[in-house]
Amino acid sequence: MHSECTEWTARSRNRIIFVSILSILFVFFIYQNMEDPEILQASPRMINFKPKPVFSQRIVHLDLKGAPPKPSFYDKLFPLLKEIGITSVLMEYEDMFPYWGKLSMLKTKNAYDSHTIAHIQNLAHKNSLEIIPLVQTFGHMEFVLKHSEFSSLREVPEKTDTICPSDENSIQLIHEMLAQIRQLHPNVSSIHIGADEAWNIAKDERCFQKLHKIFHNSEERLKLSHISRVAKYAKDELKFDRVYGWNDMFSSIDSELLKEYDLGRLLVPVVWGYAPDVTIDGYFPYGMFQRYSQVFPNILFASAFKGANGINETFMDIDRYFSNLFSYHRLFSIFHQELQNRVSGIVFTGWQRYFHTAPLCELMPVGMPSLINEALYELDPTSTPSVQRQRLLNFLKCESVQPVQPINYHGHVYHPPNEIIFKQCHFLGSDVENLRLLKWKINIDGILTHETRLELQSLTEKIKSLLLKDFYEDAVNEWIVQNLNPQTIIQKFVPQTIL
Ligand SMILES: *[C@@H]1O[C@H](CO)[C@@H](O)[C@H](O)[C@H]1NC(C)=O
Ligand SMILES: *[C@@H]1O[C@H](CO)[C@@H](O)[C@H](O)[C@H]1NC(C)=O
Repeated sequence: MHSECTEWTARSRNRIIFVSILSILFVFFIYQNMEDPEILQASPRMINFKPKPVFSQRIVHLDLKGAPPKPSFYDKLFPLLKEIGITSVLMEYEDMFPYWGKLSMLKTKNAYDSHTIAHIQNLAHKNSLEIIPLVQTFGHMEFVLKHSEFSSLREVPEKTDTICPSDENSIQLIHEMLAQIRQLHPNVSSIHIGADEAWNIAKDERCFQKLHKIFHNSEERLKLSHISRVAKYAKDELKFDRVYGWNDMFSSIDSELLKEYDLGRLLVPVVWGYAPDVTIDGYFPYGMFQRYSQVFPNILFASAFKGANGINETFMDIDRYFSNLFSYHRLFSIFHQELQNRVSGIVFTGWQRYFHTAPLCELMPVGMPSLINEALYELDPTSTPSVQRQRLLNFLKCESVQPVQPINYHGHVYHPPNEIIFKQCHFLGSDVENLRLLKWKINIDGILTHETRLELQSLTEKIKSLLLKDFYEDAVNEWIVQNLNPQTIIQKFVPQTIL
C-alpha cells in the first residue's frame, strides 16, 4: 500500500512537474510574444561567428541630453551591448548628472541620483563594459551657460554655447564639474572632455586682451591653451589615465603647435564626421592625418549610428549610417601609413539632439538595429553584405523576412525603404515603421480620413505606452507632439518616394 502510494505519488508528481514545465514554457512563450515588442527585451542571443575585429575598442555613445532612459533601461541595454562586442560606453550625462553644491542647478528634473550613477557602473562592470564619462568643457555648454548664475561666463552674451576660456571663473567651474564627475566615478580610467564646436571664440573683451598679450594674436593658441589646460587637470590632478576630446577645434592646426601644447601626451583626439563618405577630398582638412601622426600615439574614429540625418529625424536609415561607418574603414586604408597602429578604437555615436535646445532625433530603440548592424560588422569587417544582413536579422530574431514589396494605396505606389523589413522583428522600431507608412498614406489623402485618424490614434497609444516603460513622461510627450500631432503631420512629412 505504502509503496503503491509512493509510486502513484511519484508518477503523479512527475506528471505535475511535466505539465507545470509545459505551462511555464507556454506562459513564457505568450509573455515573450506579448511583452517583447522591442529589441531591448533581455533574452539570450548569440553571435555564432568568430570575431575578427580591426579596432580593439568599440565604444557606444549614449547622449542623455534628450530622452534619457530610465535607470531600468540599462539592465536590458548593457547585456545586449556586451553580446554585440561593445567594449566601452561613452556616457554624455549632460544635465542628467546629479551635480551638487554650487552646481546643483545644472541637474534637470529627472536627473539620476548618485545610486543610479553607481548602479550604471556596477552593471557595466558585470558586463565587461568600460564607462567613459563625457563632460563638455568648451562648446556645447548650453545646459550650464543658460543659467543666470553662469551667464557672465558666456563668450558672447546672447549665445549660450561657448564658455569664455579667458575668465578664471570659467576654469573654476569646469574644474568643479570634472571633480564631481570624478567623485562619482572613482574607478574609471578615462574621461572625454568634449570640446567640439566652440564656435564663438575670441569674441569677448576678456579673450581679446589675452589674445594680444599672451597668444600673439593666434586664435589657435587660445583654443589649444584651453583644451590642454582642461586635459592636464583631468589627467594630472584627477588622475584619469586617458583624456579624449573631439578633434574639430584643432583639425587644421600645425603639428609643431600641437606639440608645443603637449597635446600628444594630454589628449586622445576623437576624429568625428558623419557624412556617408568621409574619404571625400577635403572632408577632413588636408594633411590632418599627417599632422596627427607626428603628435598623437593614439586616435579614435567616431562614426554615427543615429542622430546625424536631420535635426528632427524620426525614422531609421540603416544604410546611410552604415555607409558612414564603412567609409572609415576605407579612410583607414587610404591613410594606413599615417594611421597604422594608431587607431585604437571606433565610437558609434548616437546623438539624441543636435544641441541642448534642438528637437529630438531618432530615439535609442529606433536606432538599435543600426547600432547592432554596425557593431556586428565591426566584429567581422571581412563579412560580405549578405552574410552581414543575415547576421543582423538572426540577431533581431526577425520572423519570416519577405522581400520588400511596393504598397498600393488609392492608385499611388509606395516603395518602402529597406528598414520596412524590421516590421517583422520584435522591437519598438516596428511600430515606428508602421508610422512611416501611415504618414505616407495621410499625405496621399491630403487630409486625415476617419480611418487614418483612428489608425493614428491607436498607433499613438501603443507607441506611447511602449516608450513610457523606458523613458520619462516629458520626453515621451515631446516626441509624441513632435511626431504624431495630427495638426502638423500632413505638412511635415514629405516622403522620399515622391520627391
Ligand atoms: C569601485 O571599486 C571598489 C573596489 O573594487 C568597489 O567597492 C566600488 O563599488 C567601485 N565603485 C563604483 C562606483 O563602481
Ligand atoms: C524638422 O526639420 C525640418 C528641416 O530642418 C524643418 O523644415 C521642420 O520644420 C522641422 N520640424 C519640426 C517639427 O521641428
